[in-house]
Amino acid sequence: MTYDLSGRVALVTGAGPNIGRAIAATLAQAGATVWCNDLKPELALSAAKFAGERAMALPFDITDPDQVEKAVDDASKKRGPIDILVNNAGVTVPRGLLTISVEQWRLVTRTIQEGAFLCSRAVVKRLIDARKPGAIVNIASTTGHRGRKNAIAYATAKGGILNFTRALAVECAPHKIRVNSVSPTKTGASVGAVESAAARSFDEIPLGRLGQPQDHANAVLFLVSDQASFITGIDLRVDGGTLATWGTRSQTDPTAGS
Ligand SMILES: NC(=O)c1ccc[n+]([C@@H]2O[C@H](COP(=O)([O-])OP(=O)(O)OC[C@H]3O[C@@H](n4cnc5c(N)ncnc54)[C@H](O)[C@@H]3O)[C@@H](O)[C@H]2O)c1
Repeated sequence: MTYDLSGRVALVTGAGPNIGRAIAATLAQAGATVWCNDLKPELALSAAKFAGERAMALPFDITDPDQVEKAVDDASKKRGPIDILVNNAGVTVPRGLLTISVEQWRLVTRTIQEGAFLCSRAVVKRLIDARKPGAIVNIASTTGHRGRKNAIAYATAKGGILNFTRALAVECAPHKIRVNSVSPTKTGASVGAVESAAARSFDEIPLGRLGQPQDHANAVLFLVSDQASFITGIDLRVDGGTLATWGTRSQTDPTAGS
């Protein structure tokens, strides 16, 4: 199956060194014009370089309503309305209820949830005005589907993103704007490179390896393409079977009893 995104314009938020960069490059290879966003201008630039000649850097803070509106406006004036949005940016603070500060809680939930809300609003508004169809993919997480120690804000925010996806899908359906999510499991370094890829165990992943950024980029490519034209409101788990288990080693270790 070949995917053709020529004529489409994409915005990938948080196109830093790991998952976002692979998504940006994959959409560009399929023919889309791609805006690579990141809070850090040097990361937006390096993602755009990595993604090739159809990609450009668009640094801004997704949690700042004015910056979001201005960036989406500038980008739309230069290359036309954005009709593919990948809400990928995220941060985490590996702390639990009693150790996370209010500021840290707000940073995580605001970046993940408010960032997706503001970028979706800016893109959807302009698509409706232009009477154009479009596709949004929110990058969720297996941690949005179940509890995990030391991830209270992140798990809360990602769980919210799963239902944000459904609610937005229903709201946008009359405008032919499809909204889905992808749930990665452990992939490369952890978010914010808190833990290196080499240090991460994959005992609980039935397919026996960490995810790779390209695994998620392939899923995003499918979901934004015309081949997925009847798919909206779903979460596509790209997790090596992680969520098919109870998330414990006993589910994947052939020597463990029941
Ligand atoms: N890495 C994993 O193992 C993993 C697992 C499950 C889900 N995810 C999800 O996948 C997505 C990408 O993860 P990653 O590992 O590539 O993360 P990453 O930390 O490598 O990249 C995230 C990028 O978002 C940017 N960012 C943070 N705040 C921002 C803001 N306010 N405005 C704009 N950009 C901002 C950061 O600068 C960073 O470059 C995230 O949503 C994450 O939650 C990752």
